[in-house]
Amino acid sequence: MTDARDIALTYARQNRDRFLADLKDVIAIPSISTSDEYKPEVLRAALWMADRLRGLGMDNVEVMPTGGHPVVYGEWLKNTGAPTVLVYGHYDVQPPDPLDLWDTSPFEPVARGHHLFGRGSSDMKGQVIATFSAIESALKTGRMPVNVKFMIEGEEEIGSENLGKFIKTNAKKLKADICLNADAGMIGADYPTITYGLRGLAYMELRVYGPNKDLHSGLFGGTVHNPAQALVELVAGMHDKNGRVTLPGFYKKVRRLTEDERKAFKRLPTNAKFYLEQTGVPKLWGEPEYIPSERVGGRPTLEVNGLLSGWTGEGSKTVLPAYAMAKISCRLVPDQTPEETFKQMQAYLKAKAPRDIRWELISLHDSGTAITDLKSAGVKAMADGLHAVWGTRPLFRREGGSIGAVVQLQEYAGVESVLTGFGLPEDNIHSPNECLHLPTWYKGIDALIHFLFNMGK
Ligand code: BES
Ligand code: MN
Repeated sequence: MTDARDIALTYARQNRDRFLADLKDVIAIPSISTSDEYKPEVLRAALWMADRLRGLGMDNVEVMPTGGHPVVYGEWLKNTGAPTVLVYGHYDVQPPDPLDLWDTSPFEPVARGHHLFGRGSSDMKGQVIATFSAIESALKTGRMPVNVKFMIEGEEEIGSENLGKFIKTNAKKLKADICLNADAGMIGADYPTITYGLRGLAYMELRVYGPNKDLHSGLFGGTVHNPAQALVELVAGMHDKNGRVTLPGFYKKVRRLTEDERKAFKRLPTNAKFYLEQTGVPKLWGEPEYIPSERVGGRPTLEVNGLLSGWTGEGSKTVLPAYAMAKISCRLVPDQTPEETFKQMQAYLKAKAPRDIRWELISLHDSGTAITDLKSAGVKAMADGLHAVWGTRPLFRREGGSIGAVVQLQEYAGVESVLTGFGLPEDNIHSPNECLHLPTWYKGIDALIHFLFNMGK
């Protein structure tokens, strides 16, 4: 006997090529949220999403303005009495730079072998299209087991700055039994994964000003403190020799890992060998008393994301720069907050910055830490769905990335998320040659169909 679930799964299998064509279509829109230059493209991606939601049969589709990039909303609420799933997504992507390291153009998606290459293929246009495809498969075959709402934002990659307010204002509209969030990736193609913790983020820009103009390094070197040097001295002091962050009070609110959590981290297949292979470094680095997966999922960190000063073009220029800048961000764990972290950085700079330079610290964006409820019906439905497709129980982990919406939905709308995804560690997200492993993606679509039907039971 074929039931509605099987019919939907068959539909998905028969429509894989079209799902893929859809994904290619949206990857071709360079929706880079961080730079104003791409604002029209970001909007184009929002309109594309709205158009697709209408095509899926969603009602009340809206491109809703925020203080920044818009949120795309749509709903299908015709299954009275059935649970409601709020589907989260983001249609923005990270910048593709450095461009010369891409083998193919980032916004001209190409499938080669088992992979589709392009910016956003894995993070997360691919995941958004997977949810569209699963819902289409259930809807178009006539037995949609749940109600759905969509909230697709355009500012995830820049900290979801305006989403919090959006959720607050629209809390009633967004009410749901669970939020499905497929933005959290998986541990490996053979390891279906549910992520239950994400780190927060405090992203800052540190500007150091030296002389009133770029100087001749021969005529003035040795008389003024080079701001590039002052900057890197400050940056170097932000860690001690054991890889611990030195900002005053940085660890005070850090929740200690329990013995059970530490055991769970040890069981994950993402061991030291995994990190060595993924990164290609000769030796790992970090707090020695924690294993790498703990340092990523359960401990806070501070990273330099970029450095700028002086002459960096071809050849040489003997200059003593007037200015130096660093982009610095801290990944945070419960119960740290981005606001406190920013103040700790200010306190560090006040104490350590030399008097012979001027400095300025700017907060670029923030994201809260999140731990999600593992006992929700959504988590069970997802775990069973992943099991049905992969034939193995999913792994549960805390991961190091950040997704602003998860904590914002908890705080402002009381909606818990189930976090999963079909992106792999080797997909090069945020890096050149981002790609999506298509066989895993197709399995993901099937798992999402199972999830919908499990939710509806
Ligand atoms: N999808 C990622 C986050 C992620 C990746 C979580 C893999 C878990 C596993 C997301 O799009 C992302 O990169 N977010 C940014 C957010 C930041 C700018 C606030 C991040 O983590 O850098
Ligand atoms: Mn993402």
